Amino acid sequence: MDQNKTPLFDAIMEYIEKKPAYFRIPGHRFERGISQRWKDVVGEEIFKFDLTETPLLDDLHNPEGSIKEAQELASEVFGAEHSYFLINGTTCGNEAMIASSAFSGQKIAIPRNAHKSALMGLIIGGAEPIYLQPELSLEEGIQGGITPQAVEEMFREHPDCKGVMVVSPTYYGICSDLRAIAKICHAHNAVLLVDEAHGAHMYFSKELPEGALEQGADMCAQSIHKVTGSLTQSSMLHIKSKLVDVGRVEATLHIVQSTSPSYLLMTSLDMARYELATKGTEMIENAVALSAYARERINAIEGMRCVGDSLIGKAGVKALDTTRLIISAKKLGISGFALLELLESEYGVDLELADYINVLAIVTYANTKEEIDRLIGALGDIARKNKGGNAIQNETVLPAIPPRVITPREAFFSKKKQIPWEEAKGEVAGEMIAPYPPGIPVIYPGEIMTAEVWDYIESYRVCGRHLHGPADPTLSYFHIVSL
Ligand SMILES: Cc1ncc(COP(=O)(O)O)c(C=O)c1O
Repeated sequence: MDQNKTPLFDAIMEYIEKKPAYFRIPGHRFERGISQRWKDVVGEEIFKFDLTETPLLDDLHNPEGSIKEAQELASEVFGAEHSYFLINGTTCGNEAMIASSAFSGQKIAIPRNAHKSALMGLIIGGAEPIYLQPELSLEEGIQGGITPQAVEEMFREHPDCKGVMVVSPTYYGICSDLRAIAKICHAHNAVLLVDEAHGAHMYFSKELPEGALEQGADMCAQSIHKVTGSLTQSSMLHIKSKLVDVGRVEATLHIVQSTSPSYLLMTSLDMARYELATKGTEMIENAVALSAYARERINAIEGMRCVGDSLIGKAGVKALDTTRLIISAKKLGISGFALLELLESEYGVDLELADYINVLAIVTYANTKEEIDRLIGALGDIARKNKGGNAIQNETVLPAIPPRVITPREAFFSKKKQIPWEEAKGEVAGEMIAPYPPGIPVIYPGEIMTAEVWDYIESYRVCGRHLHGPADPTLSYFHIVSL
């Protein structure tokens, strides 16, 4: 195919040039109805792209023209058989992958560290989850990978499992051995679904781990907006498989996507694909080079650490996306949360996230060396000012996965009761709790709050550490299922 083509962008340009008298949705009629105050700042041209389905502009839910061609171009770039533009992020991609692969009580293996959209996919489809525990990289205090051995064991116990989901790379750039996991899945006639929200750029550099489709995954969902050049909320779902029921995936996408898909988002996917197809290697290798430069300089700062290849081969880590900088100042006694706050408030350096031990910087092709130098300079300054602090210890050992009484779907639709946290032991959880670090949920809706899990959460709560998931993160109360 001619990757220089931009079918959706071209179709919109042709439509705009026709200057039609416009009586469709959206109501703002090109740029005319947009707030002048907004246009004074950002200009007006972009608003002309905010259109709707017309014969020229095709229909995301039944593509036959420019959107179909744009999706086919994307398939070619990522090596897929079918690709779908998502305007509801990888959130809806994960939901569609899960709900179309296992439903109505069928089994599916889900990593315990999955994004919350996996839980939503289980709620939509009603599948029965078999949870896989990722390994832990204790020294760094982060989640490792899912091992092929864990998948093998799961199939021994659940030979009727319809599929396995893996998050690879994770937020921290940790990649599991997808090639080996795909082989195991296929030997059991099950699909491998990969949440590749953070990995679309890896297809464009030999210095980065291979992408999921290159390693035999049947489906993957990618947040093109997270690591390449499309707008927030725009993602892609790819299929490369004989095992996937394509019609069912498409039907599920209708459930999880708006019937008014944004042409701005879809055009941004068309244009991001074009940029990647025509200069992706150069773009992504710029990010790889910038992060290698940053890693080396940060590791030369006394008290700072930015992990790299030493992670590989341990804790289920097959490979590492080196464009993720996992930085720790724990030797100086500075927690990840405090480091994030310092960098932002004192130095104007904004990082993606923090846990108790680390901060995470995402380096993309669009970062500049000047920005990297600001980060390095700030870390150097912080290290100088905090010499001699008492080192922080990481201690993460996860409790056993508690027994599940009902499916996440049953738990979601059950009546809930709010009770004091102190009384939650032995009850069926109505909500999920993921203590940070390592951010792995220790209880999911529908599971019994064992004493071990309760004690583990309590040890975080009393220290005021971050608890993700519950309606009240301070746990003055907790939601249980009232059976
Ligand atoms: C691992 C993972 N999967 C899925 C998602 C959801 O992606 P999106 O923001 O594109 O909906 C995220 C978002 O942060 C994520 O970190």
